[in-house]
Order: sequence, then C-alpha cells, then structure tokens
Amino acid sequence: MKNTKWIPLLFAPLLFLASCGDNKKIDRDVVDQVNKANDVKKVSESEITDYALKWGDEISQEAQAELIGTLQKAIEEKGITGAIDFCQQEALPITKNVAEKHRVNIRRVSVKNRNPENSPTDMEKNLLDAYAYNLENDLENRPNIQKTEDGEVLLYTKAITIPGGLCLNCHGEPGKEVSDATLDMIKSRYPEDKALGYKVGDLRGMWSISLPKKEVVKNM
Ligand code: HEC
Repeated sequence: MKNTKWIPLLFAPLLFLASCGDNKKIDRDVVDQVNKANDVKKVSESEITDYALKWGDEISQEAQAELIGTLQKAIEEKGITGAIDFCQQEALPITKNVAEKHRVNIRRVSVKNRNPENSPTDMEKNLLDAYAYNLENDLENRPNIQKTEDGEVLLYTKAITIPGGLCLNCHGEPGKEVSDATLDMIKSRYPEDKALGYKVGDLRGMWSISLPKKEVVKNM
C-alpha cells in the first residue's frame, strides 16, 4: 500500500508538462505510464469492499433521486393513471442511464413485482429473503456486498421499503389506496402484476447493482 499510492502522484508533473507542449508522442507516453501506475495500484480486498459499499450507496441514491423526481413530476402533470404509462416507459431507461454513466448494471428487483423483468435471480432472491427476515425480526437492514461466482463482479444490494403514501397510490390496496381507474390501467399494462397490497414500511424490493471489480478499483 504505502509504497504504491504515491506512484500516480509522481506522474502528475509529467502530465502538466505534457499539457503545455503539443508533442503527441509525449502525451501518449504519459498516458501509458499513468495507466500502468493505476494497474499496479495495490489495494486489499477489504478496501475494495468498503469502497464498493460507498459507491453502491451513491449510485443507488442517484438513481432513486432521478426516479422519484421524475415520478413526482409525472404525477403532477398527468395524474396517477398517466404516471403509470410514464413509469412503464421511463423507469427502466432512467436506471439504465445512471448505470451507463457509471459503467455498472442497475436493477430494482422484487419477488412481488409489477414488471416481470424485475424478477430476482437465485442469488438476488436469497438476499431478498434475508432482508425480509431482518425486517420481520426487527433487525437492521444494511446495504450488502456479495462476491459473484467468478469474483470479477461485486453485487451491491440495498433494501427498498415503502416510505410513504405516495407509493400506495399504485402499490397499495385496490379499492382503498389504489383507485379503480388506476387498477384498470395497471391491469391493462401489466397483466401479471403482483405489486399490489403493500403497506408503509413493507419490503418492496431491493436495489441490485453489479459493480465490476475493475471499475471499483479504478475509482478508488
Ligand atoms: C404512478 C404509479 C406508481 C407510483 C406512485 C409508484 N410506482 Fe413503483 N412502479 C410503478 C410501475 C408502473 C412499475 C413498473 C415499472 C416498469 O415497467 O419497469 C413500478 C415498479 C416499481 C419497482 C420495481 C419492481 C417491480 O415491481 O417491477 C419498485 C421497487 C417500485 N416500483 C417501488 C416504488 C416505490 C418505493 C414507490 C414510492 C416512492 C413507488 N414505486 C411509486 C408504478 C408506480
């Protein structure tokens, strides 16, 4: 650790020099050297996990803010039923945009899902079960990092609970929080919908963000 961290710093003055000249060859050499320095950056597994947790938190918060912001705007402009169309067209592209920006993969998965594309894999299902168990037993649900089989990808997950009444307009009890018009719209767009009957505080699903280890290290 100690003797490798300073390597990128060593090249900083070189970079500066290169940026003043217009010699393309020097530029290239410097870039190669910096890249090499990054390759040899030695970090421990636990540092990688710590960073992945922090980065996963940031990415999930960013995606969450984008979703909530656009959802609220859609409800204001188009009402609840109009916002369903909006969610159908925009929810996955919004998370995809954030994912592409960070070069990771982002999903929101749920056992009781609305869009079958958001069904969990076996590994995700196990994690969802663990979050459900914790919630039932009043244990704290903290974000989690799991290694995937090949070890190249770290899976960040975070429980999504129903924070308040806004969500129940579309995920609550039909005839009570979910109006007949909303229910009709949901059924027509999602014939296999399972995402009704939730209450405030229920586990709605989880963020599932695949972080390539290479990208984690690059960002550290
Ligand atoms: C205007 C109706 C509406 C509101 C309000 C709403 N949702 Fe949804 N929600 C949807 C629709 C439609 C989908 C399916 C999106 C898709 O096709 O990808 C969905 C999908 C989801 C999913 C992905 C898993 C799945 O079931 O497919 C989660 C998690 C979720 N919503 C959580 C919430 C939370 C938490 C809130 C409150 C902050 C909320 N929703 C508010 C309509 C709504």
